[in-house]
Amino acid sequence: MKQANFSLSHEYTLRKAKLSDLWLIIFFIVKARLDPTQMKLQQFLVIEYHGRLVAFGQLRNFPLAQELGSLYVAPNFRNQGLGTFLIENLIIEATKPLYLKCVKKELMSFYTKRCFVTVDYQDLPNSLKSKFFLSQLRKKFLKGFVFFMKYKA
Ligand SMILES: CC(C)(COP(=O)(O)OP(=O)(O)OC[C@H]1O[C@@H](n2cnc3c(N)ncnc32)[C@H](O)[C@@H]1OP(=O)(O)O)[C@@H](O)C(=O)NCCC(=O)NCCS
Repeated sequence: MKQANFSLSHEYTLRKAKLSDLWLIIFFIVKARLDPTQMKLQQFLVIEYHGRLVAFGQLRNFPLAQELGSLYVAPNFRNQGLGTFLIENLIIEATKPLYLKCVKKELMSFYTKRCFVTVDYQDLPNSLKSKFFLSQLRKKFLKGFVFFMKYKA
């Protein structure tokens, strides 16, 4: 099995999400205004700190593609590499070409440094074109900030 480049200190545990995590994940997703689609627990990886859930992310499944999404780290735990560690481990788990949608200008360089490159809407797989259709309209006609990115190993 491939290993992530970065490792967590022993106080943290990376694991699959459990049923008991669901409400907290939903709470954080709503609070951070993240995309609430495909809330399938088996798609989530979470990080615990002394048994408390502090970060998570997921791989949404589509025909011929996956989307890295729901990436969240609790405010007090940011800038310590947890987000990067989750991304690395989700990349390892991915089995199809991996995409994401970035709606925050300040996170473009974050994803770029982690091997994601921007792709045009036209070049997305059809399944993601359908999902991102409204975002693309917002980008085109309302000049909303939206970028589609693809993982390039
Ligand atoms: C984005 C997020 C997951 C990053 O998690 P993290 O654990 O702090 O990430 P890491 O410690 O691995 O990396 C920190 C990096 O992220 C950058 N970063 C994180 N949030 C940032 C922000 N709001 N603005 C600018 N840079 C940000 C840091 O500058 C740092 O950059 P660098 O290491 O590339 O120089 C976290 O800030 C978060 O949960 N944000 C709220 C939810 C969200 O926006 N999710 C992403 C949806 S697309």
